[in-house]
Amino acid sequence: MNGTWDIPAQDELPRIVAMMEDEAFYDKIARVPDADLEAALAGSPDTALWVFRVDGRAVAYAFMTEMATKYPKLDEFGVFERGRGYGKAALDALARKCAKTPRYEKLWLHVVDGNEAAMALYRSLGFGEELFIAKGWKTRSDKVVDQVRMWLKLDRLRRPED
Ligand SMILES: CC(C)(COP(=O)(O)OP(=O)(O)OC[C@H]1O[C@@H](n2cnc3c(N)ncnc32)[C@H](O)[C@@H]1OP(=O)(O)O)[C@@H](O)C(=O)NCCC(=O)NCCS
Repeated sequence: MNGTWDIPAQDELPRIVAMMEDEAFYDKIARVPDADLEAALAGSPDTALWVFRVDGRAVAYAFMTEMATKYPKLDEFGVFERGRGYGKAALDALARKCAKTPRYEKLWLHVVDGNEAAMALYRSLGFGEELFIAKGWKTRSDKVVDQVRMWLKLDRLRRPED
């Protein structure tokens, strides 16, 4: 499946916000504050808001942080239409996009322990489990949950022609 990560158009923002605000995901993802979304869209060197487009249609979003370091973080990730292979294609393309920046060593993220769909996806792409963070996050339904830090080394995605 071919797709590209790009800056969202104005009319794509509501869909990102709607997913972030959907109660179904209160225990899995966070609502990035509007000010942080705006800073990313205004060209902050450390953050980015992107959508993954397949056939011209946005199917997933990513909010990236720590981009001015060697270790970019996938801070938030969501797929609008789940279970159709978009997540895998999007994350694979995201890792390849990050690998194009020579100073980036690892792509990393935190996932709620027990978010099996996400963890299986990350593992299938070669993410390793680095750290267990007991009671690392208080969700929007006021649950205190464990998290796992996962990371992907970017070196092996680099080819001389990149
Ligand atoms: C987790 C998420 C990003 C996966 O995206 P997706 O498009 O549904 O996943 P895909 O269809 O590409 O599936 C890729 C792999 O993920 C895993 N997966 C996807 N859905 C799954 C499910 N319901 N149960 C178990 N594994 C699942 C499988 O390993 C799958 O590979 P396979 O089809 O070869 O078995 C998506 O479900 C989502 O947006 N969830 C809500 C928000 C969220 O949890 N974000 C991640 C926060 S860290």
